Amino acid sequence: MIGRLNHVAIAVKDLAAATAVYRDVLGAEVSEPLPQPAHGVTVVFVQLPNTKIELLEPLGEASSIANFVEKNPGGAIHHVCYEVEDIIAARDKLKAQGARVLGNGEPKIGAHGKPVLFLHPKDFCGTLVEIEQV
Ligand code: CO
Repeated sequence: MIGRLNHVAIAVKDLAAATAVYRDVLGAEVSEPLPQPAHGVTVVFVQLPNTKIELLEPLGEASSIANFVEKNPGGAIHHVCYEVEDIIAARDKLKAQGARVLGNGEPKIGAHGKPVLFLHPKDFCGTLVEIEQV
């Protein structure tokens, strides 16, 4: 059901420092920081030949990743995102197998302008999973 790995999101306290690690130490192509107030994050996209890394820094008081960064001050993988062809069909199939879909279960428009859902980490090997319809 899942297709390509769309991105791996890494949450950090200091976006400039994390960007420097990927750009200067690892030699990757990085974007400018992109504030996304609707999602409570500022994002830097790291373009790799086969996928993307998204460096996330909390933005604003009610950032959804603020607690996570507090618990992981040195940074940590926040979620992985897999592509699906039909997000409603994928959701229904996952729910039928007992997987927990976060929020109200309805897809939201994600950071790339496409519908996304998040799945409970306890149902997926301890990893928060985002699915995105492409
Ligand atoms: Co994501």
